[in-house]
Amino acid sequence: MLAELTPEIVIQMQRAATLLQAAPRICVLTGAGVSAESGIPTFRDKQTGLWEQYRAEDLASPAAFARDPKLVWSWYQWRRQLVHDKMPNPAHQALAEWQKNAESSKRQLTLITQNVDDLHEQAGSTVTHLHGYLWRNRCSQCDASYNYESTNHESTHLNSSKDAIEFDDELIACPHCEGYIRPDIVWFGESLPASAWQTAEQAAADCDVFISVGTSSLVYPATGLAQLAKQNGATIIEINPNPTLNTVVDIILAAKAGVVMPLLLEQIKLL
Ligand code: OAD
Repeated sequence: MLAELTPEIVIQMQRAATLLQAAPRICVLTGAGVSAESGIPTFRDKQTGLWEQYRAEDLASPAAFARDPKLVWSWYQWRRQLVHDKMPNPAHQALAEWQKNAESSKRQLTLITQNVDDLHEQAGSTVTHLHGYLWRNRCSQCDASYNYESTNHESTHLNSSKDAIEFDDELIACPHCEGYIRPDIVWFGESLPASAWQTAEQAAADCDVFISVGTSSLVYPATGLAQLAKQNGATIIEINPNPTLNTVVDIILAAKAGVVMPLLLEQIKLL
């Protein structure tokens, strides 16, 4: 895998590994790029098939749902179908192993994600979701949570809703108020869940090294976390094969996360 990297990236990776090996507190923010090698298209990739004519940004908003709830619900059901059998890739696995190693050596590795898939959890990580979770639903009117399991099978175990979810694109009415059920995802213009945001802000403000993996850094407030870390003295590392709008980066590892993350972890273990 090392052969896939340019000599410049290898040098930068060694620099990053030295810093990370000595850092007691690390904060990692992931975006859609970390799941790209698992086969999940990123947000700014052009959509395919039936959805080719739509941009994700135009569907993921309260205004879009108010205008055409069936269209937005169908899009999410399609995304769920696309994602439900996807597996963690070497980037998710390396992050999970690294988090476990950090725990056992009394260091801190806080993992924050903008992704709504569960690939970090599948790999064994503890992760804070800033933008919600694809497998959860709630009422667009009264906010009551709705899950297929509890409604259809009288169980309240939320995590199993992924297995029970049906990909039917018929709209569902809330059993309490008749409002339409929507995915429990943060849409453009909506606030982030308060406790997740607090965890993220604290981890970014307190860390020695902040790593941004597979995000275009286009969407606030998540993008502000790297700036917050930098203002508080952290070194900022970015892992992304493409240039981004992140202006506070100290070390750029311009390659795929699934290639860089396992190598970086190996380097850290060698030091
Ligand atoms: P984007 O789709 O904006 O950006 C994905 C980034 O991943 C790009 O910068 C790619 O260059 C990079 N990338 C692609 N393949 C990669 C790989 N194999 N390894 C590493 N990086 C790779 O996704 P996000 O930045 O996550 O919000 O988007 C942020 C938010 O905007 C999303 O959470 C979503 C979206 O609208 C909501 O739904 C609220």
